[in-house]
Amino acid sequence: MENRIVLDSLHKSFGDLKAVNDVSMTVEVGEILGFIGPNGSGKSTTMKMATGYLKADSGTSTICGVDMEVNPKEAKKLIGYLPEGAPAYGEMTTIGFLNFIADIRGFYGKKRAIQIDKAVERARIKHVLHQQIDTLSKGYKRRVGLSQAIMHEPKILILDEPTDGLDPNQKHHVRELITEISKTTAIIVSTHILEEVDAVCSSVLLINKGNVVLNGSSSELRSKVESNNSIMIKIDPKSTEDLKRLLLTIPSISKIDVLNETESNVNINIYPKENQVILTEVAKIIADHKFPVKDIYQNHIALDEAFRKLTV
Ligand SMILES: Nc1ncnc2c1ncn2[C@@H]1O[C@H](COP(=O)(O)OP(=O)(O)OP(=O)(O)O)[C@@H](O)[C@H]1O
Ligand SMILES: [Mg+2]
Repeated sequence: MENRIVLDSLHKSFGDLKAVNDVSMTVEVGEILGFIGPNGSGKSTTMKMATGYLKADSGTSTICGVDMEVNPKEAKKLIGYLPEGAPAYGEMTTIGFLNFIADIRGFYGKKRAIQIDKAVERARIKHVLHQQIDTLSKGYKRRVGLSQAIMHEPKILILDEPTDGLDPNQKHHVRELITEISKTTAIIVSTHILEEVDAVCSSVLLINKGNVVLNGSSSELRSKVESNNSIMIKIDPKSTEDLKRLLLTIPSISKIDVLNETESNVNINIYPKENQVILTEVAKIIADHKFPVKDIYQNHIALDEAFRKLTV
């Protein structure tokens, strides 16, 4: 059996709104794909189609070789899904809900107790087992949702904003849990917390208004911003021209901007070609010629900035 989820050219419109327009992705066991995009860009709609909770207008979701539309029962056995928001059945207690899920998943006897215990332990919800779900705090509702998604240890896991509403300790714990589970599972995780993409994801897919903007790594996302890996130098204005001339002999430098000229300081911004790291070469020229540099740093673009640039 192929241990992967393949979404192929999913489309969904609501009336005139093209909510999801040709979204494709492949995630293998061992990988965690960070699914990001602005509010309303189509992440949840894509995840609902991937998991068979919403019918696509066209396109397919194939779970370990099983087509979700052709054989939904089989495909759903192989997948765990944490939808956005709170779990349904809010009038149930946590343990009542987990028993219900265990029934749906077809667990009986010893195996049933083992799977429930493991999910409870992994999601850290032991002390709310007898509380009604409606009365749980937002973070605990999220964790109860997570426990039902992982109870049957699925090969494919789709998590729609799993850390939404969690405190920093719990966020950290859930990220560790996701990383651990990924050793045996293919995971798609949507998030608005971009540091999460750097912390746990092996790849990233960015959508905007239903369209894929980027499918690659977080460094590819950063590389869409021209100033990524650029070097800023503060220097005495008398040395500006000499330094500029020498820097322009470095082949990996694309351009140099001179900013904020005052009587005693000039800021020189040095841009690399194709996001190359140029710090060593720049530092060598400064050291070899003993330029009177007052400050130097490398600009490492925050994912948030790349996200904003690509989704305006
Ligand atoms: N059942 C529906 N009927 C009509 N429009 C819908 C329906 N479900 C989603 N939409 C619209 O489709 C678009 C995509 O919504 P979706 O929930 O997939 O976005 P999202 O990327 O998950 O956003 P968020 O980051 O806020 O969770 C939105 O404009 C939304 O209003
Ligand atoms: Mg959503």
